[in-house]
Amino acid sequence: MPLVKTTDMLAACLKGKYAVGAFNINGLDQPKALIEAAEKIKSPLIVVEPGVIEKYVNFEDFALVTRRAARDAGVPVSIHLSHGLSLEQCERAVLAGFTSVMYDGSKLSFEENIENTRKAVEFGHKHGCAVEGELGALGSSFVDITETMTDPEKAREFVERTGVDILAVSIGNSHGFYKGTPHLDFERLAEIRKAIEPYPCYLTLHGGSGISEEHFKKAIAEGIVKVCIYTEMCSEGRANAIRWYAEHPDYTGNYDTCDMTAEILKGFVAYETKCAEMFESAGRDEVLPDLLNAVPVNDRLGPEYPSAAALNPDFKGKGIYWDKF
Ligand code: CO
Repeated sequence: MPLVKTTDMLAACLKGKYAVGAFNINGLDQPKALIEAAEKIKSPLIVVEPGVIEKYVNFEDFALVTRRAARDAGVPVSIHLSHGLSLEQCERAVLAGFTSVMYDGSKLSFEENIENTRKAVEFGHKHGCAVEGELGALGSSFVDITETMTDPEKAREFVERTGVDILAVSIGNSHGFYKGTPHLDFERLAEIRKAIEPYPCYLTLHGGSGISEEHFKKAIAEGIVKVCIYTEMCSEGRANAIRWYAEHPDYTGNYDTCDMTAEILKGFVAYETKCAEMFESAGRDEVLPDLLNAVPVNDRLGPEYPSAAALNPDFKGKGIYWDKF
């Protein structure tokens, strides 16, 4: 299945009253693992590169690997940039073939945030890419800024003046691990939803790690269709790697780092699967006819993968490396 537009995926969520997980990656082995896990439970997913890791994973490599994995997948996949740090960075993600980008101007003044987000929307839409904006600052494990929650009336003005397709809201949600139980302001969320109802804009919840299933379901009932997940996936991956090394204290095999990476990936996909079940996106791989071929193949991204040579059983290069051990 080719990639689908993020907004088409979110439209299907709204119609079916479920949310889709937007899963952050920090390595190029993760997109394929996340997509394969989603296929097992027949769930659509958004594979996300956060702007802060671009120095480790460049956009073109990420888009290439993810688009190729998506092409062979049996579930709808879209590619998203989260927390784009500058307009220039968002533009690079758009040109690399992402299907949606977030410009994060939440730390700017209201007017500056509107001005920059509007520019990001203009550029994104020119290239068929959806754009997410953020209004109201999120808390984090390090900073408590619950007084900066999204104001519904300002949200209406922000959406109207920027034309964003997706709005990230601050309703008590927080990045990283929560200090204690998170308290989400569902009344505020309902007010925001009502305020932006006249506009074609979807709501997203950042800081999904640590929110209970009950609260996810309430948030989805109030219109959240995209939930960002990262911390808990990393945490499970790390715990798996630590446990595996404790169980293999004398391990010196040549596959050492491969085995460790596999354990980390198992942790990532275990939490992804749990989320897809909580968000009720599992089993929602139905493809609306108008989603098929929604996103044209980007010819700039090079040859098909896996290559014809690698698929040929007589290919001489096959197994050369692994056969050494
Ligand atoms: Co976020």
